[in-house]
Amino acid sequence: MVTATRVLFAASEAYPLIKTGGLGDIAYSLPHALHQAGADVRLILPAYRAVLMQAQSMRILGWLDVRGAKRVHSVRVLEISHAQFAFPIYLVDIAALFDRPGNPYTQADGQDWGDNAERFTVFARAVADIAGDVLGTGWRADVVHANDWQTGLVPAFLRESVPHIKSVFTIHNMAYGGHFSLHEFNRLALPRHWWTTEGVEFYGGFSMLKAGIVYADEVTTVSPTYAGEICTAEFGYGMQGVLLAARHKLHGILNGIDEAVWNPASDVHLPAHYSANRRQPGKALNKQALLQHFNLPAHDAAMQVPLVGMVSRLVEQKGVDLILAALPHWLLHTPLNFVFVGTGDAWFEAQLREFAVNYPQRIAVFIGYDEALAHLVEAGADMFMMPSRFEPCGLNQMYSLRYGTPPIVYRTGGLADTVVDATPAHVMQGLANGFVFDELTTAALVATVDRALIAYTQPRIWQALVRTGMRQSFGWLHSAQAYLALYKGTDR
Ligand code: ADP
Ligand code: GLC
Repeated sequence: MVTATRVLFAASEAYPLIKTGGLGDIAYSLPHALHQAGADVRLILPAYRAVLMQAQSMRILGWLDVRGAKRVHSVRVLEISHAQFAFPIYLVDIAALFDRPGNPYTQADGQDWGDNAERFTVFARAVADIAGDVLGTGWRADVVHANDWQTGLVPAFLRESVPHIKSVFTIHNMAYGGHFSLHEFNRLALPRHWWTTEGVEFYGGFSMLKAGIVYADEVTTVSPTYAGEICTAEFGYGMQGVLLAARHKLHGILNGIDEAVWNPASDVHLPAHYSANRRQPGKALNKQALLQHFNLPAHDAAMQVPLVGMVSRLVEQKGVDLILAALPHWLLHTPLNFVFVGTGDAWFEAQLREFAVNYPQRIAVFIGYDEALAHLVEAGADMFMMPSRFEPCGLNQMYSLRYGTPPIVYRTGGLADTVVDATPAHVMQGLANGFVFDELTTAALVATVDRALIAYTQPRIWQALVRTGMRQSFGWLHSAQAYLALYKGTDR
């Protein structure tokens, strides 16, 4: 009998329990895709307060003593269930480290929690112990799939204690390296032999991201283009050498999206539904609802004016500065209206707010995190703005394609792998699904938006773009198989 591969999927956030960005979506949708493909999956998360509050049933699997920073934590390992999860979720419950409100990584003022090194070291130690079934539950992982720096030490601890368990480490974003000091390294009593340039040491400190890259059996990142980019100085954040040395085990596997959660034909957050073959009146009703939500004009004439939407972490990565620089031009020289939903850098937030105050008829801004509103923007806008400077994969452009809202993107990372520019040739071939620019300047963004505006006035072209995007498949089918093949060690 062939037994299912037992996968322990470790992450620091997962939709709908706790989410700050795309990692949360992936930590929900990929394990489900693996489960559907026949794997025996468990998701493991820190027991943040928000997660505990949403548990629908709970049992204690056991207790572990785990070393922290100059102290030993008594860890409760919980198994919870939740209606939206088809498999059990394990929680690493340490009140002193995780029973806190709000964001998993930062305090209310936006600063990182001061004890993040300890929080994610202890989590990683516990994950490795649980993978090896030190609790004696009868479930031992064949493979542990760790994600981003917060779980970067997991592959390293597995090497130490249970080297026969395979580890896969996925890089969702090189910009977050999990950098800490030698002092922390010592306080956490991390193995001395890790402190080398071939190990976790990085410019005098240590990096949990580097630990994942160095010690995992397989390393993946979330798009083929980004896999190439991170091996260069421009995108490697100083780790391009480490990545080049790891190239034999580095794979670019494009993220999928959850086609049930993000489906305009059934989305619970939308006032009206629509599909590739029946786009109206549903799409227009969503636009009207979005305009009304923000008190923007929504009468017949206003409905004709193209509406640009953006949902994003407001950080440098996302090209917010390019948008801020272009807005005065768009306000003067184009009819465009804008809806921005995001949170992040205080300066970007303030700038966007000021535009909304000065142009209340044309620009609406919501600063904060609102899952339902994110869906409504994808559905209600005519175009989706995503001029990221770099983008490991990007999910929002795939959501917008699926929702008939052509994206405007810079050619980088996963954006380059998913958006096909509306050149005359691509339009003729039926391949075009959005707008792509090649030079990271405000002028190039403005010129591309001009092209989008021209296309918008040509209904046949515009509808062809919309249809192409909506009919494409961005699900997990292919990529989940690629991960399963990595877990099993067979060639893809
Ligand atoms: P990243 O992970 O870099 O933030 P992605 O495009 O991969 O970018 O994923 C972003 C995810 O976070 C999407 O699901 C998007 O809808 C969501 N998101 C980002 N900001 C907000 C917000 N302010 N409110 C609701 N959802 C948001
Ligand atoms: C990161 C990246 C984003 C990617 C997401 C999920 O947050 O910034 O591009 O889509 O992870 O992999």
